[in-house]
Amino acid sequence: MSHFVAMTTIVGTAGSGDAPWWQTAVIYHVYPRSFMDTDGDGVGDLPGVTSRLEYLVGLGVDAVWLSPFYRSPMVDFGYDVTDHCDVDPLFGTLADVDELIARAHQLGLRVVLDFVPNHTSDQHRWFVEARSSRQHPRRDWYVWSDPAPGGGVPNNWRSEFGGPAWTLDEATGQYYYHAYLSEQPNLNWHHPDVRRAMFDVLRFWLHRGVDGFRLDAFRRLYVDLSFPDEPENAAYDPAVDNESFAVVPIHTSEQPELFDTVTELRRWIDGLGDHVLIGEIYLGVEPLMRYHGTAERPGLHLAGNFNLLWTNWDADSIADLVTAYESALPGHAWPNWVLGNHDRSRIASRVGERQARVAAMFLLTVRGTPTIYYGDELGMSDVDITPDAVQDPWEKNVPGKGFGRDPVRTPMPWDLSDHAGFSTVAPWLPLGPDHERRNVERQRDDPTSMLTLHRRLIELRRTVPALALGAIDAVVAVEGVLVYRRHVDQQQVFVLLEMAGRPVTIHMDSLLGTDALPAVEGIDAIEILMSTALDRQGVEGTAVALRADEGLVIGLLHAATPGH
Ligand code: GLC
Repeated sequence: MSHFVAMTTIVGTAGSGDAPWWQTAVIYHVYPRSFMDTDGDGVGDLPGVTSRLEYLVGLGVDAVWLSPFYRSPMVDFGYDVTDHCDVDPLFGTLADVDELIARAHQLGLRVVLDFVPNHTSDQHRWFVEARSSRQHPRRDWYVWSDPAPGGGVPNNWRSEFGGPAWTLDEATGQYYYHAYLSEQPNLNWHHPDVRRAMFDVLRFWLHRGVDGFRLDAFRRLYVDLSFPDEPENAAYDPAVDNESFAVVPIHTSEQPELFDTVTELRRWIDGLGDHVLIGEIYLGVEPLMRYHGTAERPGLHLAGNFNLLWTNWDADSIADLVTAYESALPGHAWPNWVLGNHDRSRIASRVGERQARVAAMFLLTVRGTPTIYYGDELGMSDVDITPDAVQDPWEKNVPGKGFGRDPVRTPMPWDLSDHAGFSTVAPWLPLGPDHERRNVERQRDDPTSMLTLHRRLIELRRTVPALALGAIDAVVAVEGVLVYRRHVDQQQVFVLLEMAGRPVTIHMDSLLGTDALPAVEGIDAIEILMSTALDRQGVEGTAVALRADEGLVIGLLHAATPGH
């Protein structure tokens, strides 16, 4: 077996037939500003999302998660909230949310909201009161510190968006802490009234019928209130890294109280029905596991797994990642995978257009709940934003280092009409230069388009139970091809993903003769269930010829296989 580059047997176990919806679901992430504008202001809105729900049904997804639409001065585009229980007029009204939820449910779609528990806007009534005086009963809803003994910031804590994580409130002479912008003061989750208020927010939305929450900036809810300096990070490279990497956030993330809150939240929400909690948790495999809790002290339903965002896109690295992740997951936990979101470079830009198809096949056939970022199903890329068009506060704070998120938040191209059918006026961010070619109308009926690929892969997931809930094993990198098996009961399928950009033949019979697959008998032929090129299907010999950048889902045929 000299051609084996890496070989590991791992077993991510199969889910059960009565699995909760969020285990079998495909989640679709909508950034409402950029999905569909119905009131002609160049910014997407909630009626816009509602008007496009049928599209999502056609695509085959099960749930839609919406980035924030709450009242906000929009300094961080809605992640700076002034009222967690109301809708910003830019996006519509509470009645529009009700309408969206009702229509989604009618269509069989679940609705997941973005919950922003870590901070509010500095314009939020709570913060306005808190900063009004040191004696105000609301003061301790936020995190305050006196200046350092000689003056200046209390310690070395850094903001994610550049600069210190402390801003002086001149009127009261104390600094307040903000993990993100100074316009986003952190709530003090140690305060029981804060916790109560935030649980009330969740209750408010659950009563309106939502099916779950994505928990924004979740690692950061608690900080060490004795405010020790963070240790320096030896790996920090100021030339390329985000400034916050200069320190290791051991006093501002993963505080012990957070995990009590996780369990409390999980037990509480499970007591109310069939909901999902998805954490935004940027962590490597091992530290991420803590968020799953234990069988006795449950954690989040889905601990956001963002490891694909920084893992090299090659068969060895991805095989290692899948193996490490699946081996680390506790038995009670369920995996999930994310290829992109509103904060990170799009997959098509990271790996190229051809590999983006392979990535789609990976996302929709690997074990775990997949999340698709809007537009990735069309193969949208990052869009160049000229300096005068920059909107993102991060880019404004730290220009030119590539942190800006505008490129991944450009409008969804729907059709060939003006502004790609997104709006009747020039949108808040430019459309991609390829929107006349790359849009829903063009791709919908094209039998080999990226959109059709997504639709067909989702359909395959529905019809092949091994893909939705089956176990995963035999994760191998062989000659630049990532191979894995999914199986449940008597059904098994293999996924072969050519990731090195060159044609290669994989001999399934010799692959199956190895220790990696002790359970598999010899085979007579394979059946191609789907190619990423969407141009071939059917029975072939056991030597599988993959074209460059091709992914295949295949079944195995034994002599005894009916019909063979
Ligand atoms: C999360 C969001 C990001 C936002 C930040 C602050 O990381 O995904 O868009 O800027 O939190 O709320």
